[in-house]
Amino acid sequence: MTNAVHDNPARKRFELEVDGETAYTMYRRSPGIVTFVHTVVPAALEGRGVGSTLARGALEQVRAHGDKVVAECRFIAAYMAKHPEVQDLLVDAPAPPRAKPGLPRGVALLLDPLLNKGTAFTLAERAALGLRGLLPPHVFTLEGQVARALENFVSKASDLERYIYLTGLQDRNETLFYRVLVDDLERMMPIVYTPTVGKACELYSHLFRRTRGLYVSYEDRGDVAEILRNWPQPDARVIVMTDGERILGLGDQGTGGMGIPIGKLSLYTACAGIHPVRCLPVMLDVGTDNEERLADPLYMGLRHHRVRGQDYDDFVGEFLTAARAVWPKVLVQFEDFANTTAFRLLEHWRDQTCIFNDDIQGTAAVALAGLYSALRITKRPLALQKVLFLGAGEAGTGIADLIVTAMVDDGASVEEARRRCWFVDSKGLVVKGRPGLAEHKLRYAHDFHPIADFVGAVAALEPTTIVGVSTVPKSFDRRVIELMAEKNQRPIIFALSNPTSKSECSAEEAYTWSKGRAIFASGSPFPPFSYEGKTFVSGQGNNSYIFPGVGLGVVASEARRVTDRMFARAARALAEQTSEADLAMGRIYPSLTAIREVSAHIAAAVAEIAFDDGLAGVPRPADVLALCRSAMWAPHYESYLASS
Ligand code: NAI
Repeated sequence: MTNAVHDNPARKRFELEVDGETAYTMYRRSPGIVTFVHTVVPAALEGRGVGSTLARGALEQVRAHGDKVVAECRFIAAYMAKHPEVQDLLVDAPAPPRAKPGLPRGVALLLDPLLNKGTAFTLAERAALGLRGLLPPHVFTLEGQVARALENFVSKASDLERYIYLTGLQDRNETLFYRVLVDDLERMMPIVYTPTVGKACELYSHLFRRTRGLYVSYEDRGDVAEILRNWPQPDARVIVMTDGERILGLGDQGTGGMGIPIGKLSLYTACAGIHPVRCLPVMLDVGTDNEERLADPLYMGLRHHRVRGQDYDDFVGEFLTAARAVWPKVLVQFEDFANTTAFRLLEHWRDQTCIFNDDIQGTAAVALAGLYSALRITKRPLALQKVLFLGAGEAGTGIADLIVTAMVDDGASVEEARRRCWFVDSKGLVVKGRPGLAEHKLRYAHDFHPIADFVGAVAALEPTTIVGVSTVPKSFDRRVIELMAEKNQRPIIFALSNPTSKSECSAEEAYTWSKGRAIFASGSPFPPFSYEGKTFVSGQGNNSYIFPGVGLGVVASEARRVTDRMFARAARALAEQTSEADLAMGRIYPSLTAIREVSAHIAAAVAEIAFDDGLAGVPRPADVLALCRSAMWAPHYESYLASS
């Protein structure tokens, strides 16, 4: 009989071969510890002391490695009890890993997208949380999971398929979803938000897989607070709410408009780190006037025409009151309401509760930020600008109102500031005395003679800046741009109408007709353009620069109201984040890759106003930027194990 006990790590056992038979003792290793689990001595070798030889040899090797022993195997335990010289090797079995309290276990944990880590649960977490056997054995890092997600993402045949894939990922594992977004926001934003989300809203009732957010329907009136209490998260802090009537440029999508609050809240988290647990998408379903949807047997919303008038306003009021009662610190963002509804609700509620309208105020702040950046190039003060708008709708009047707020902030009177904003709408220049002017245009109806067309207004008023928010493509034609370039060394030209097909002019047209002197920004992106050897990268006035940071500032300071002064400061903060290098290539907004840093600064600017104006719900800290940064969540996995 040979006596050589040897370690066979591949089979996790110490082995002893005798007369062609193998006796072995199996083990598990953890750092510094060998746990013996089971010993086998073949029948042919019994009664010959083989077991003792095996135990002695195995324990000698353990000692030689400086390890200790846990004896789960009864044979090894008995051997060690009988042999005092090996008892110093014995240690108690280490306590099994324990999970942090309050976590679900097993399948329930895997089905909770806010907590699920999928294949990234460590072996210890799997043991502690009842997950052993429920996952494939290899443990992945978050980076490894991102690689798999991206492989799936690129393999899809269309952007809509990519949207569906990402939605599924969000429903399975939010940390991984946000990591994928944050790592490549420029690539992911057009999928989770406009333009792809528009298609998803149109097809919502057909693509629907799993519910997300709250659907508050008109049939629930009277019970809205009770419905809100069904939401499982006790500390909702940002609600994005739509009634689905004006979804992007696609009109009334009824309940399908829910895609927009979901997408927009993804951007709150990705761009400004608002924790997903604090975000709540809401669809206020009051019916739809979209006949195609009403006739669709799969349509999931209320199947009647829109409730309007006082009944509608009362329902919105019930929702806002209930939301504030259930979540006293919540911010409600109105999203994609129809033009007149949007203005009315904003005016009615802005001084009563914590709300804002991104289409009006967020757009305005992005445009004002663009103007501030442009003025860093022209080196002219805001007070001396004359801005002529083409289009007097939500976007146009919202921008003008904020420019006025900013000028007043700088010391101008409201009247002086308004005289610097002019409008041309479908009926020509908006002037005092023009019959039938809508309420929101009256404050910009100045004493001037009527002018029928835009180019005539440019010639007569000699603006420093023109802003296109008309949805009329090509309305900034060659004559308009050449005239602007004739009157201004650096004409500021913003063609903000979306999508690209509606843009008032292209980047190429603005740069070519102004002989490379235009400072240009657009609503939809244009590719870089080279003119006489210089490459221009035009800015995209994307609302995502502003609203996430504003939301973060409100959340961090627990502000009770959202004011125009906050948006004006947010615009200034965004402009300050635009680097000299950006400006040198004509870009008046920072790169989206810097968005989380930009959002932190915008949040700080907003929070400062909340503190200055007595609107904050927490005491002012010494470092407001640090307060905002500390409220930002980043998509990393946290350990679920209790720290022993
Ligand atoms: P809206 O429907 O409220 O206003 C459009 C305005 O254009 C109306 O006053 C209308 O009378 C005017 N208009 C229509 N035809 C005209 C013509 N031939 N000449 C002069 N004016 C004319 O729409 P809203 O919400 O103001 O949006 C306007 C455009 O701005 C849209 O294309 C929208 O996509 C874009 N927009 C861009 C944003 C961005 O870049 N960040 C954000 C919000 C809107």
